[in-house]
Amino acid sequence: MQIAAMTDHTGAEIRDLDLSRPIGDDVRQALRDAFVRHHVLAIRGQELAPAALVQAVSLFGEIFPQHNTRFALPDCPQIHYLSNQDSFPDGRRYIPGEGWHTDHSNDNRPPMATVLHAVKLPSHGGDTQFANMAAAYDALPEPMRRCIDPLLAIHVYQSSHSARQLMTLSETNKERVPNAVLHPIARTHPESGAKSIYINPIRIEGILGLDHKEALPLLDDLLAHATQERFQYRHRWQPGDLVIWDNRCLLHKANSDYDMGETRYLYRVMLKGDVPR
Ligand code: SIN
Repeated sequence: MQIAAMTDHTGAEIRDLDLSRPIGDDVRQALRDAFVRHHVLAIRGQELAPAALVQAVSLFGEIFPQHNTRFALPDCPQIHYLSNQDSFPDGRRYIPGEGWHTDHSNDNRPPMATVLHAVKLPSHGGDTQFANMAAAYDALPEPMRRCIDPLLAIHVYQSSHSARQLMTLSETNKERVPNAVLHPIARTHPESGAKSIYINPIRIEGILGLDHKEALPLLDDLLAHATQERFQYRHRWQPGDLVIWDNRCLLHKANSDYDMGETRYLYRVMLKGDVPR
């Protein structure tokens, strides 16, 4: 197995690894270390059917049940699909993952990691961008760090302030998804100990103890700071890619800059995380 960093802060490419075969403890440990160090791993050249994908991701952790089961694969519901070929009930095209976010932060224990495996890709575009929230936190002026360190944000399924609309949850899904949860705006990574900005424009409804007039501009400023190009890694998809990223210290977004006559279809799995602190 070869591991090569993609930037000096985020992303590594992994070659010469076949996840459909049994993986020994030394390789497993090397993958987990690389995951904590590089935050995004792009494992090239995989061809995993759903059951094999479930088996492969167990190298990194336990599967997290995703919230909106309308996207679950019927024969393997731990895996959801992402596709540009779905529409909202009013006929508008639904592009999953557009706009900066971190996955399922409206859960008490949001997923540690998300895994995407490319099944069908457009001929150009459709990259996934990542922004390193630990680097962004470190680059904040000291007074701003002191300001955000004690703050708690209120996360919901769909923020009323978000321009991006999500697919609604079924009544059954609503019963198991929390109404609102509180998470720190500056969270500490449980494995590396690094502090990160933990925000999510599509899920944050407000900041505890601040009115919207104060909270929303603060969140906008943090987002503008954190998503500067210097903190980004942009993943250009290749057939056979399996990409795993760390939701605890990254924001990400999908790009819809390709011909919508072409299909972009990926399998998505999430892995269980802990309570952000
Ligand atoms: C996601 O937000 O989970 C999807 C990202 C992508 O489709 O590139």
